[in-house]
Amino acid sequence: MAIDKKYIDQFVNITSKAALASSYLVGKKDKIAADKAAVDSMRSNLNNMNIRGQIVIGEGELDEAPMLYIGEILGTNKGPEFDIAVDPLDGTNFAANNLPGALSVIAIGEKNNLFKAPETYMEKISTKVNVKNVVDLDYTVKKNISNLSDYLNKNPENLTACILDRPRHKQIIEELKKLKVNIKLITDGDVAGALLVTEEKYNVDIFLGIGGGPEGVLAAAALDTFNCYFQGRFIFDTDEDKIRAKKMDIRDLSKKYELNEIISGDSIFCATGITSGELVSGIEIHGSEFISETLVTHKSSGYKNIVKLKQYL
Ligand code: FBP
Repeated sequence: MAIDKKYIDQFVNITSKAALASSYLVGKKDKIAADKAAVDSMRSNLNNMNIRGQIVIGEGELDEAPMLYIGEILGTNKGPEFDIAVDPLDGTNFAANNLPGALSVIAIGEKNNLFKAPETYMEKISTKVNVKNVVDLDYTVKKNISNLSDYLNKNPENLTACILDRPRHKQIIEELKKLKVNIKLITDGDVAGALLVTEEKYNVDIFLGIGGGPEGVLAAAALDTFNCYFQGRFIFDTDEDKIRAKKMDIRDLSKKYELNEIISGDSIFCATGITSGELVSGIEIHGSEFISETLVTHKSSGYKNIVKLKQYL
């Protein structure tokens, strides 16, 4: 069943308030405090909503996270049942150091339609070309670029690939360089990174590489409404990771997930800027008011917009 449009405003309010709470800690060199402020705000405001929500992507599991842990029930227990994925602060470094791109993010799915994922890494790929077999996690970088280049009728020199600047991506980056692809390195924040393929204005044709699994699931929710392509494969390297996967009923540890296996049915996605970035501007406080900017998507209505809100503090 479609998620009622009335919830769009309510969830924009959730991430706007979380972003505001975190904004007071921008530049204070304290990642944990900036994250906690967003978590506390998100949790208390979600608990006031007339929903029966359950966290499927959160701040960890019960034994390691006191709140917004995977499995936590939120809301007044009246209203529709939702799966909830949260990243109250994506880009803790950005917030702590007053750098562009810190976001507060939530995705809502219908009950049992959002992937329940542990906090492990994920290989990801997203493009604006929503056609199977053009890009694939199992293809070489060369094949992905050559297919994309053919499909978009653009030379590799005119393609741009976005990737997290990490030593683990050395080989991919070398390959991209050899192919003369323009490389857009990001230092953090790969929810936003994966979403740069959604609109021409960002000038990114493909996002690839390894980042957080939860961030991958969140990005998939928005990419679904933008009708973009996404594939993800969790990485369960350590014994601890494997135990986590088992606890969450993930049996095939090397499975490659298509977008619709990560999220299906209706969804709402909201990402509010804490500090200004490419997707949205950060929180501004003017006297007794604050302004927030939120990228919002709602799958069933096809709504995708940047919502600017002015509210009293
Ligand atoms: P945090 O906000 O939790 O610090 O995550 C930032 C981030 O850049 C994510 O966007 C990304 O998925 C992940 O870290 C990548 O992890 P790592 O920094 O370990 O490479």
